[in-house]
Amino acid sequence: MALRVRVCRLADVVPGELRAFAVSGVTWPVIVTYAEHELVAVPGVCPHEDVPLADGHLDGTELVCGGHGYGFDLKTGTCTHDKALVLRRYPITVVGDEVWVDLL
Ligand code: FES
Repeated sequence: MALRVRVCRLADVVPGELRAFAVSGVTWPVIVTYAEHELVAVPGVCPHEDVPLADGHLDGTELVCGGHGYGFDLKTGTCTHDKALVLRRYPITVVGDEVWVDLL
């Protein structure tokens, strides 16, 4: 069974920015941004050592963590520095102006 939650409004998502949105009842925020023209949603914490990913930056479609500089391809979730690490991509549903993601 999916756990679908409302994360933000579509208008809150700014291309080129890493905005983390708090989700009620969930420990970590969700980052919603664009990879090229694709809307993507990922966990707000790094799979390497739990550093907030919103403190990192975007380099094209790569999210670069501010912790140790590892890059994550937002198109696939793969880490460009350690193939064992994967940044989960949440399935997204846009309903009107609302962005919903499936956390489970
Ligand atoms: S905590 Fe993100 S790269 Fe180490």
